[in-house]
Amino acid sequence: MIYLDNAATSWPKPEIVYKTMESFLRTVGGNPGRASHSMAIAAGSAVEEARILVAQLIDASDKNRVIFTLNCTDALNLGLKGLLKAGDHVITDSIGHNSVVRPLTKLEQQEVKVTRLASDKQTGSLSADDIEKAITKETKLIVVTHASNVTGVIQPIKEYGEIAKKHNVIFMVDAAQTAGTYPINIKDSHIDLLAFSGHKGLLGPPGTGVLYVGKRAVLDSIREGGTGSQSELEKQPTQLPQMYESGTPNTVGIAGLGAALRFILDLGVKNIRDHEIELIGHLLNGLLSIPQITVYGPNDAEKQVAVVSFNIEGWEPAEAGAILDQSFDIKVRTGLYCAPVAHKTFGTFPTGSVRIGLGYFNTIEDIDFTVEALKKMANSKGGVA
Ligand code: ALA
Repeated sequence: MIYLDNAATSWPKPEIVYKTMESFLRTVGGNPGRASHSMAIAAGSAVEEARILVAQLIDASDKNRVIFTLNCTDALNLGLKGLLKAGDHVITDSIGHNSVVRPLTKLEQQEVKVTRLASDKQTGSLSADDIEKAITKETKLIVVTHASNVTGVIQPIKEYGEIAKKHNVIFMVDAAQTAGTYPINIKDSHIDLLAFSGHKGLLGPPGTGVLYVGKRAVLDSIREGGTGSQSELEKQPTQLPQMYESGTPNTVGIAGLGAALRFILDLGVKNIRDHEIELIGHLLNGLLSIPQITVYGPNDAEKQVAVVSFNIEGWEPAEAGAILDQSFDIKVRTGLYCAPVAHKTFGTFPTGSVRIGLGYFNTIEDIDFTVEALKKMANSKGGVA
């Protein structure tokens, strides 16, 4: 079996993630911050250790500004809905995932003004000048996709962040497709709000996400409840991270994420990126050598993360994905990947495309096998391979 759907969720996980989660469930069953017995304290330590590692990954000076969320969508909802109020203006790109698109559409119904700038039709990248020109007196936020989950294109967030800072606008980045596989430094890129999931490039389990909340971004809570702190208060505490972390957290997931983060930090994100550049380059060479295949995006390993979308002449994406699975045991994703706006930008709406999401554990041999399978399919013109 060849797993090439790492952009949806990474698989396999590092061995230490499985071991840590099993051992956590068996031996550290307490509820963090909810009691003073040793099991609750041990659970709390696992959560705080993971928080410190996230802070290290993104160069955050204050670990308490790292908020654990259910997933990246939950983090984006907290950032967008916690920040934006009626009359505020927000600027975004046109390669966003529904996790940004849908909260913004909802906020638009509540009198938030949204400017959706046209991203480049070929690569998906947005010009920093276009962002600057769109800023008005009401602009509160610029929210962008770090790397597209359709074409993998990496956007120049440092340039965008400089513009946001110059105009005193909050800068938010959806790093769902980059965290763990591409270096991100919140200080260098002037990022106020950074959202990502724990289960993709970070190699942790599903049900884990992060929102980093910088000092300039003052957010309302969007979910109130028990925080294990200031229990005498009937109103939500305002101290971080508790203000945004109501309810029992996914402790086993966060412990697994902590193990994954140690694995990533030991390897070094730069080394992971170099390995992925090699894999992406090899895949692009293979795909571009098949005349019946159209590849969308920059087609340049240096300019994209390990996400490659394409279509094969004569094949519907869903049909191609099913044959790859059933005849070759290769797992890819097909369709719109919850990113209809991006597909409209790339001209692949409404059927979408076939997507290969490479991961750290993929090999050159996986790619060679996949390219051979695609050659057979391309030559069978939509028939059964
Ligand atoms: N957002 C994930 C994807 O792109 C699930 O497939």
